[in-house]
Amino acid sequence: MGIQFKDVSYAYKGLKVNYDAIGHINLTIKAKGEFIAIVGQTGSGKSTLVQHMNALLLPTSGNVVVFGQNLPPKKKEKINFLRQKVGLVFQFPEYQLFEETILKDIMFGPKNFKSTEAQAMEMAKRAASIVGIDESMYDQSPFRISGGQMRRVAVAGILAMEPEILVLDEPTRGLDPRGRRDLMKIFNDLHEKNDQTIILISHDMDLVSEYAKRVIVLKEGSIVFDGKKEALFEHPDFETFHLDLPTPLKILKHLEKEVGIPYQPKYDFDSLLDHLKEVSHE
Ligand SMILES: Nc1ncnc2c1ncn2[C@@H]1O[C@H](COP(=O)(O)OP(=O)(O)OP(=O)(O)O)[C@@H](O)[C@H]1O
Ligand SMILES: [Mg+2]
Repeated sequence: MGIQFKDVSYAYKGLKVNYDAIGHINLTIKAKGEFIAIVGQTGSGKSTLVQHMNALLLPTSGNVVVFGQNLPPKKKEKINFLRQKVGLVFQFPEYQLFEETILKDIMFGPKNFKSTEAQAMEMAKRAASIVGIDESMYDQSPFRISGGQMRRVAVAGILAMEPEILVLDEPTRGLDPRGRRDLMKIFNDLHEKNDQTIILISHDMDLVSEYAKRVIVLKEGSIVFDGKKEALFEHPDFETFHLDLPTPLKILKHLEKEVGIPYQPKYDFDSLLDHLKEVSHE
């Protein structure tokens, strides 16, 4: 079932009257097994688009259907059900931490949605362990830990609700390279071990290239590409998408041009290195 957009447009009310932040979006996302990156220039509508996936925004026109539920649902409880099913991690989610202790913060979601205190605690501990927050940190203040750890606590707060689909709005922004890798590994493990559908907004084409299977490109509020990443980077109109090529592909194109090594795409650094070792032995 997953998520379906049928001719969805959304206009923010305000200064720019009749200006669609997203327009005529048609999209189907499966409940399991997808790893989708949503990319596009700043202001292209990425955050607006994903906020429709759990009814934070409702379409100005068109329809969104999430797990069989037409939005907006008639009953308010249904919205809670939906927000549990589709977990959305905002840009800079650590700004939303507010409890006295790390464990309480992670428990907030499950407690609010349905669970008893004991269940919520169990779900929170499970989520904490997924993101590598150690038991010894449970009672610490979420405001006295590093930025990278705060980000993990915020992510754990969403994971604790055990969403079926995880939507991440630039989850690695502002983290150092190590923090970025560690966090991406957590998301990738969820995808690989549980077949969980992950939707990732990112400006980092190296991460997109390494992890995503499908890429959706937004330009001025419209989808200009939706397909396999392998097809995206070779697309004849790639230039018009205003995206960077991932570093491994840049290197490989350069090597073909300057050194004559035939171009063969590789989507992450390890595969690039393996490939270069192979060709240098030939
Ligand atoms: N709360 C708001 N009120 C009015 N206009 C908004 C609001 N949020 C976004 N917009 C406008 O809607 C359009 C799409 O914005 P959106 O935040 O979805 O883009 P984005 O692709 O997520 O950008 P970024 O990469 O900078 O996060 C932009 O023109 C933006 O200025
Ligand atoms: Mg955004």
